[in-house]
Formats: sequence, structure tokens, C-alpha cells
Amino acid sequence: MKGETSVRAESLTRRFGNFVAVDAISFEIHSGEIWGFLGPNGAGKSTTIRMLCGVLEPSSGTAQVLGYDVARDPEAVKLRIGYMSQGSSLWNDLTVEEHLRFYAGLFDLHGAAGRKAVEEWLDRVGLTERRSELAGELPGGYRKRLALACTVLHRPEILFLDEPTSGVDPVSRREFWDLIVGFADAGTTVMVTTHYMDEAEHCNQLALIYGGRIVARGTPDELKRAPDVGVTVEILSAKNTSILDALEDVPYVLSAALYGSSLHVTVDRREDVEQLRRLLGEHGFPVDELPIVTPSLEDVFAALVRPA
Ligand SMILES: Nc1ncnc2c1ncn2[C@@H]1O[C@H](COP(=O)(O)OP(=O)(O)OP(=O)(O)O)[C@@H](O)[C@H]1O
Ligand SMILES: [Mg+2]
Repeated sequence: MKGETSVRAESLTRRFGNFVAVDAISFEIHSGEIWGFLGPNGAGKSTTIRMLCGVLEPSSGTAQVLGYDVARDPEAVKLRIGYMSQGSSLWNDLTVEEHLRFYAGLFDLHGAAGRKAVEEWLDRVGLTERRSELAGELPGGYRKRLALACTVLHRPEILFLDEPTSGVDPVSRREFWDLIVGFADAGTTVMVTTHYMDEAEHCNQLALIYGGRIVARGTPDELKRAPDVGVTVEILSAKNTSILDALEDVPYVLSAALYGSSLHVTVDRREDVEQLRRLLGEHGFPVDELPIVTPSLEDVFAALVRPA
């Protein structure tokens, strides 16, 4: 039911030798939510998802998925979820239809029920015309849609999608997200990782993981308003790249990046804005005022994820 807890992780931890990849993270995902898991490469996203899907044992802590403990009952978890892993899980020498038939069999959808599910998903992901093509010859966007269809064919209550759109063109990404939003509207819970901030905007809840720890969470709007991400100002200048150079290594500048034709600069505190204005003048980039703007999610994350 909508609003119930689908995933509950408590102090979930995974070590590889002495290295702590996921460091005592706790969170809840409610049913019907699109829960976005963001973070730089190596932050611990896939490791967390693999633990939740019952394919990697936690070192300590607990996690329940749909009420089942992932360490005690991984098989019960695996039957009830859909997991699209980060790497390709397709076989290049099987056709589109053969993939779907294989997954139907895996989930005990045999005979008429299996054929119905295969036809339904060929249609829903727009692959009916390509049913006889080898997966290895499909364009990237279609491969991802096939992988998604294989993941959802058995109508799981919860989907774990690990970078489902990486390397896919913007139009295909948008179409893919229409499918994800459709699942959530129908009550399916979705945990999804992405490096694309436009996709993060589609999520109801976001968590940012960095160095194995969750460093921020909330709705996209809450994260943009969070006080600990500093103050973002906009600079309109023809000398964007020179200004970026001048701002490197300035201690109170948390992040600076191009934003369309302007620059977004996030400073630590409101008091730093005037200091920044003076600094720009000293470097030969005089500005009368620096308007404070709502940061983009990219600004927020760049400000929170800083090299140590
Ligand atoms: N089997 C393993 N053995 C040793 N170290 C591992 C193993 N799996 C993951 N790691 C390490 O754990 C850390 C977290 O990896 P993980 O794959 O969870 O990151 P990620 O957030 O998914 O990154 P990306 O955005 O690149 O997919 C990395 O430093 C990685 O090298
Ligand atoms: Mg990963």
C-alpha cells in the first residue's frame, strides 16, 4: 500500500577487507516513492543496492525489503523485487523476445501467462517491432528498455535500478523516465541511482552518499533550500572561464560552475557574497551586485561533495 515502508536500512555496513564501502547508513523508502540515490563514483551506491537485493551480504547492520531481512532471507527478497544491475545483464546472442521468454520462465510465468507477459512488455517498452533482433545489435536506448522489461516482467512491488540510463541519449532517457514514473504512479516503489541531475529532479526523495555515508537527504526542493549548502549567486559576464580560474582555491567558494551562459558560484555564508564581489573587482571583473539565486541540484551536490 502507498505510504508503507518498503525498505528499512539500519546502520547498514559493508566492508571489503579494511575498506568501509558503506558506512552504517540508515534510511527508509516508502511504497510508491521514487527514491533517488546520488553520489560520485565509488561512493557506495551499487554496494548498497546489492545488499538490498540479497546478492551481497552486509558486514553489519540490517535491512528489510518488503518485510524480509536481506541477510536472513535473501531468496524471499530476490523473488519479490526487480533488480537492474549497473553492468549489462543482457546476452548479445539472444533476441529481444528470447530474453523476455527466459525471464518469464525464471519467474514461473509459463504457458499462456508467460506469452501474455512477453507480449505486454514488448508493447509497453516499444520493442514489438524489434522482437527478433539480437540484443547485441540493439541501439543503447533499446538495450536499456529491454533490460527494464526483463526486470519488471514478474510485476515486482519494488524496483532497484542502478544507473539504468547511463550512456543513453537525452530523448531515450526521457522516454525511459516516463516508464519509471508510470510504475511509481501504479504503486511500484523505485530506488534508482543516477549521475544525471535532471533525472534526480523526477525523484520524490533523494539521498546523497559520499564516502559510504549519507551526507544529505530530502526532496529536491528541500535539498536546494538546505542551509548547509551555502549561498549561491549568479554572475553574468563574458569572461566566465577567467573568473572560474580566479575562484580556484578560494577557501569560502564551495563550488563554481557554468550554468547556461552565466556562472553559479556557491559560497559558504551570506557574508562571503560581498567578499566575493570585492575579489572579482580586484581580478578585473567588476560587478555591481551578485544576485542570490536558488541553487541547482548540481550546485548543491558540488558544494557537498568536495575533495578532502
Ligand atoms: N567486490 C569489491 N571488492 C573490493 N572493493 C569493492 C568491491 N565492490 C566495490 N568496492 C569498492 O567499494 C567502493 C564503493 O563502490 P560502489 O560500486 O558501491 O560505488 P558506486 O557509488 O556505485 O560508484 P559508481 O557511481 O562508479 O557506480 C568503491 O571504492 C569500490 O572500489
Ligand atoms: Mg555503481
